[in-house]
Amino acid sequence: MEPLGAEIQGLDLSNPLSPQERNALVEALDDRLVLVAHEQKLSDPQLLAFSATFGELDPPGPNPYGIPFNEEFPEINVISNVIENGRPIGGLGAGEAVWHADMTYIDIPPRGAVLHAHEIPENGGGNTYFADQYAAYEALPDDVKKQIDGKRAVHDASRNSAGQLRKGYEEVTDPRDTTGAVHPLVRTNARTGRKALFLGRRKDSYILGLDLDESEALLDILWAHATQDRFAMCHEWRVGDVLMWDNLAVLHRRDSFDENARRIMHRTQIKGVEAIA
Ligand code: SIN
Repeated sequence: MEPLGAEIQGLDLSNPLSPQERNALVEALDDRLVLVAHEQKLSDPQLLAFSATFGELDPPGPNPYGIPFNEEFPEINVISNVIENGRPIGGLGAGEAVWHADMTYIDIPPRGAVLHAHEIPENGGGNTYFADQYAAYEALPDDVKKQIDGKRAVHDASRNSAGQLRKGYEEVTDPRDTTGAVHPLVRTNARTGRKALFLGRRKDSYILGLDLDESEALLDILWAHATQDRFAMCHEWRVGDVLMWDNLAVLHRRDSFDENARRIMHRTQIKGVEAIA
C-alpha cells in the first residue's frame, strides 16, 4: 500500500499541463490520494484552468448565508473567516471543520477538490487532516465488511462541516428524515477496482433499512474506525500551497485557528463519476 500524500515538484501549475504531466498527476492521485505543490501563485482563472484539466467542475454547495462568495467565478468556493464590509467573504469561519468528504449530499459527489492557500494565520492552526478510506476499508474486520456489504446511507445536506445550517434547509430532528443523497457505504473506484469506505459526514447520517439505534451504533463503529491516526496525515499550510485530494477516497477535517487571524483559501470541485457499488 502506498503512503497517503505526495509532493508535486518541478511544475508551475499556473501554466497549462502537458498531457503527460496531467496523466502523471492523475496516476499519482490514484496512488497517493492527496497531492501538494508548494510556492504556487494561481489567479482564479488559472486555478479554474488547472482544475478543469481533470474534468468538468461542480459549483459549490449552498452556504449558510445564501450569498455567492465569488460572483465573478461562481465555480470557485472561498473558505475563509474574513469579514469584509460586514459580510463573510467565505465559508466555514475559524472553528473546527469536522471529518467529512465534500458535497456527498449530491447524487454524484465531486471526485476531487483543489484548495489554494492565499492567506494563512501567522501563528499556525487551521491544519487540514486527511484519512485514507481504502486503507480504512481494507483494515475492517471481516464481520463488519459483511455487515456493511450492500448497505446504503443518507448523507445530510443541511449542515456544513462547521456545523452551520445551510440557507434554505430545516434542522434535522430524526436522521431517518435526513435530506440528502443516498450512497453505498462502500464505493469501488472504477479505474482501480479498489474499495473505499464512503461515509460522507457523521451528523444525521442514517443507514437505510436498519432501526435507528442499530444504524447509530454501526455508524459510530465505522466513524471511530475510519478516522484513526493510522489512516491519516496532517497538512500544515504555507501560503501558495495547491493541494488536491481524491474526494471519493479520503475524509478530511480542519483544526480551528485564531479568529482574529486571516485565512483565505480558494477551492474548486471536480465533478464525480457514477459509483460502482
Ligand atoms: C474544506 O473542508 O474543504 C476546507 C478545508 C480547510 O479549510 O482546510
